[in-house]
Parts: sequence; C-alpha cells; structure tokens
Amino acid sequence: MEIASGLEGTFACQTRISSIINDQLSYAGYNIDELMKHELSFEEVVYLLWHLHLPSKTELDQFNQEIRKNSKISEAVETCLRIQCRQNLHPMSVLRSTVSLLGVFDREAENTDRRSTYQQSVNLLAKIPTIVAAFSRLRKSLDPIQPREDLTFAANFLYMLNGTEPTKTQENALNKALVLHADHELNASTFAARVCASTLSDVYSCITTAIGTLKGSLHGGANERVFEMLESIDACGDTESYLQKKLDSKEKIMGFGHRVYTTVDPRQRYLKEMAYVLTAGTDNEKWYVLSIEVEKFIREKKGLIPNVDFYSATVYHALDIESDLFTMIFAMSRVAGWLAHVSEQKRENRLIRPRSRYVGELGLHIESSEKQISRRK
Ligand SMILES: CC(C)(COP(=O)(O)OP(=O)(O)OC[C@H]1O[C@@H](n2cnc3c(N)ncnc32)[C@H](O)[C@@H]1OP(=O)(O)O)[C@@H](O)C(=O)NCCC(=O)NCCS
Repeated sequence: MEIASGLEGTFACQTRISSIINDQLSYAGYNIDELMKHELSFEEVVYLLWHLHLPSKTELDQFNQEIRKNSKISEAVETCLRIQCRQNLHPMSVLRSTVSLLGVFDREAENTDRRSTYQQSVNLLAKIPTIVAAFSRLRKSLDPIQPREDLTFAANFLYMLNGTEPTKTQENALNKALVLHADHELNASTFAARVCASTLSDVYSCITTAIGTLKGSLHGGANERVFEMLESIDACGDTESYLQKKLDSKEKIMGFGHRVYTTVDPRQRYLKEMAYVLTAGTDNEKWYVLSIEVEKFIREKKGLIPNVDFYSATVYHALDIESDLFTMIFAMSRVAGWLAHVSEQKRENRLIRPRSRYVGELGLHIESSEKQISRRK
C-alpha cells in the first residue's frame, strides 16, 4: 500500500466551491483574474462561495445588511478579550478561543439544520473582523471602536482598527487581499474544517478547528514570519548572506514554495502589485525593494516561487497592521471558504475516516517481571 507523504496529490473530496487547475485558481468557475478585473467586493465573493452564483443587487443588499446586523460583539466577548490581552497569548490563540466562545453565547449553536448553519455562518463572518480590531486596540489599552453600518467589510475593519476611515486605495487593497485569500480548494485548514464537519459537529467547532490549523507557520502563519524575516534582513544589511545561511542550514524561507502550484501562485501577482502601489514613494518602499531582492535570490538559488504570503506581508504592513495580526487577517477572509466547505460537506456528507498503516511491533507479551516493575513505578 503506497502512502502519499503529506497526502500529496491525493483527492479527498469533490467540491464546486473552488479549483486549482494548471496553476489557475477559480471560485465557483470564475477565474480570480476575472474577479480582480471586475473589482468584486469581498462581500460579493463570499456570496459567490456560499451560493455558487453571483448575487443580484437585491441579494447583495440583503446579504450586506445581514453582515452589518451581526457585526457587534457582546460585552461578555469583549471582557474575555480583555482577559486574554493580559496573558500575552499569540493573537491566533486568542482568535481560536474567542471564536469558540461565540459558540458558547449562541443559543442555536447546537442546531445543525440549514437555516441555523447559515445564521451561524453570517455570525462568524461578521464578528471576526470586530474581534480582531477590538483585540488589537485593547492590547494597546485603547477602547474598541463599534462597527459602522455605512462602510464596506474592508473599510469597516480598517476603521475599527485605526479609528479613522481608510483612503480608497487602502480600502481597495484590503478588499483585494480578502478576495484573494477567501478560498483555496482543499488546503490544510479547509480539510481540517471538513473533517470536523463530517463528524456532524457544529459550525463553531469546525471553524475553531480550522483556525488552529491555519495558525501553523507552514500554512497561514507564514505571512507573519515573512515580515520578521524582512526586518531581520533589513537589520543585518546583507540579503544574500542572510538567505544563504538559512538555505545552508536547511531552514525554510517563509513565503516561498507551494504544494500545488508549480510555476506561479496566481494570487501573488496582485499582492506584489498592491505592495508596490501602497509603498511607492513612502517610508515603506524599502520593504517592497527588499522583497524584490529576496524573490530574485530565492528564485535563482532554489527555483522556488513566492506564494500568497510573501507580498501580503508588505501589503498588510503598509496598511498599518502589526505583523502578529497578519494571520488573523488571513482567517478573517478564509473563514468565508471554510464556511462554504462546511456546508458543502454537511450537504453531501460521509464521515472522513482514512486509515493509517501501522509500522510498529505486534504480538508483544507482558512478562511477569515487567508487570512487577511497572507496578512498583
Ligand atoms: C508550503 C510548503 C509547506 C509546501 O511544501 P511541500 O510540498 O511540503 O514541499 P517540501 O517541504 O516537501 O519541500 C520540497 C523541497 O523543496 C524545499 N523547499 C520547499 N519550500 C521551501 C522553502 N520555503 N524554503 C526552502 N526550501 C523549500 C524543501 O526543503 C525540499 O527540498 P529537498 O527535497 O532538498 O529536501 C513549503 O514550500 C514551505 O514550507 N514553505 C514555507 C512556508 C510557507 O510559505 N507556507 C505558506 C504556504 S501558502
């Protein structure tokens, strides 16, 4: 029996939500280039992932209203955030616990019918940006800012984070980043969410599982590490020797390589463009310039391609987002895809339960002397 290491190349389910074919990413049949060309809002893209068709004007208006109506967090959730701020936890651990807590405060959390699943999905999508922004402010001893109903999803987040309305360029940049991160076929966190859904567990448990999986540095956690790396290179002043040392010691260069894409990560082009637009002529331009140097060196030395996380680090930094919050921004967007997959899994469910090949010993016997020793312990 052949085991594909890391399940590489294994197809574990069918989906209509998104596809990666020949290094092209599509959401419900629309290539992301098409979504970018028509400058779709993140809200439209979420609707597309959840309903598998684009919304009419009326459908979109109603969807926007549902999101806005659900975006406030309760005082109890805010109090828990305050407590967590004192513990010096990783922001993704805070998000994981707080999303789990949303389930505690939702009286319908255990209902798994379609209507409840949809309501829980809207609740999660709408509240995660409020949680992230409130956490960011509370840990700096600032009061959280209430969400506004007249702003888009992207603008509202930046407003709640910084206390000022973003410029159109900033709003568009975050909107595009959210669209590009919204879904990605059977990546590790989506797979984890689907496994949880396949046991008929509740939506909050599925998303908590996914957040814990996204946190790791080989997955969503990479964008935070990319910025740490850029800062270290900037401090050491020698890009090539810094990277060569990492390669010599067989360390992974964060933001490079991909399990599925071989020639290009199609999302990366847009993030690189945005990193340029946001930083050109500003103090942040050095991060873009440094990123270009790193990309050139790693491509030449290792033939590795930059992935979605590489330029998103500079984009988020240019939007005044602290680097340890980067993975939270990823989660704020990817939750759209997770929720679409959770619903799809529940609609067409069969328990996901693969096998493992046992490679240990068998048929061992317990000698009486061993029994005595273990009793004495
Ligand atoms: C994403 C990732 C886990 C996918 O990798 P994978 O399919 O499991 O590939 P492997 O880790 O098995 O790597 C295959 C080879 O490429 C090398 N490689 C892959 N990504 C690398 C990276 N970022 N830096 C250095 N070497 C890398 C490995 O060292 C290995 O080389 P070897 O065969 O000489 O040992 C991997 O590219 C990685 O760790 N990247 C950095 C983390 C990251 O950016 N994650 C976000 C992904 S969107």
